[in-house]
Amino acid sequence: MSASLDPAFVAASFEKTFGETPDGVWAAPGRVNLIGEHTDYNEGFVLPFAIDRAAAVAIRRREGSTARLVSSFGDQGVVTVDLDGLSQDTMSGWTAYPLGVVWVLRQMGVEIGGFDLYLHSTVPSGAGLSSSAAIECAVATAFNELQGAGLSLNELVLVGQRAENEVVGAPTGILDQSASLLSTDGHAVFLDCRTQESKLVPLDLAAAGLLILVVDTKVTHAHATGGYAARRASCELGAEVLGVASLRDVDAAGLPEAAGLLDEETFRRVRHIVTENQRVLDTVAVLDDAGPAAIGGLLTASHASMRDDFEISCPELDLAVDTALAHGALGARMTGGGFGGSAIALIPVASQAAVGAAVLAAFADAGFTAPDIFAVSPAPGARKIS
Ligand code: GLA
Repeated sequence: MSASLDPAFVAASFEKTFGETPDGVWAAPGRVNLIGEHTDYNEGFVLPFAIDRAAAVAIRRREGSTARLVSSFGDQGVVTVDLDGLSQDTMSGWTAYPLGVVWVLRQMGVEIGGFDLYLHSTVPSGAGLSSSAAIECAVATAFNELQGAGLSLNELVLVGQRAENEVVGAPTGILDQSASLLSTDGHAVFLDCRTQESKLVPLDLAAAGLLILVVDTKVTHAHATGGYAARRASCELGAEVLGVASLRDVDAAGLPEAAGLLDEETFRRVRHIVTENQRVLDTVAVLDDAGPAAIGGLLTASHASMRDDFEISCPELDLAVDTALAHGALGARMTGGGFGGSAIALIPVASQAAVGAAVLAAFADAGFTAPDIFAVSPAPGARKIS
């Protein structure tokens, strides 16, 4: 899959499929979370940035209530649905993302009639880089504009989250959609997930001679089931026992008391959230004071907390992190929901080849599937591209 996203290719593919020109092409990026993992649904802090890989949709509105959808990667051909018969349980496969957004918008009273849609994406799926949020945000941005719905970016974030929670069935927070919608070139988004207040934080890695390398372990994860929901349930239990609305309301000073009230495992889950929130605040402060070269220790501490306290890492992610650190990374951590997906490493530009080769060799030695390794830089958020 090529990383470049050519609006002309997307428009031409639409025309080839549907025989007409689209009303427009909209794109929304995937993301890397620099730090702040599983803090979003605990009303805490996150610091993601959009990456230079995105989903793009070409759309043309039609008379009636029929939608026809096709993607450059789906093997279902053209999927035809009657929008009036759309319900949460009837959407499946990749079309659940665009149709989920359309369903939520229609629930909110946005009048969306028939349309044709062509989807192309350069965000690898299952890599923990928010390929699904990229689709949701591209579609939400497109219909917000096409229907003149006038929804704010923060409202569009919640539309994407509802599609994910209520249609796809994954109990996720607002991290991914916020990164995809609120990012601007060269910045990370510092977001308070309780208030949805956000601030753009300059992240000029190149000026510091640094880059972020992504190691996609190829270990796939599914947030609709399993560990992600279990972690969320642990956090909710912790908050309930501690008598707070969410773990956002616990700080480091409250941990000794929490240790006495919680079972050992729930305490470690809580400790991850509490310390991770503080690490996000510290990262923002350090970026401001000293620049990106000084945040490595915080990234690595975040990984240790996810590995040991929250237990959402896996051998492949740990190997990627440890190998990158042993070969000159200033800091490294898994990014996203965990149980697979990608790790990120903050490295000097000059070390890129050496770190990449070392990680590949370590994976081969361990008998793991070869990872995909590539650099990412902070990119703009969702927008109309043609
Ligand atoms: C996934 C979810 C997000 C967030 C992260 C973990 O990406 O979609 O809402 O919870 O995991 O930080």
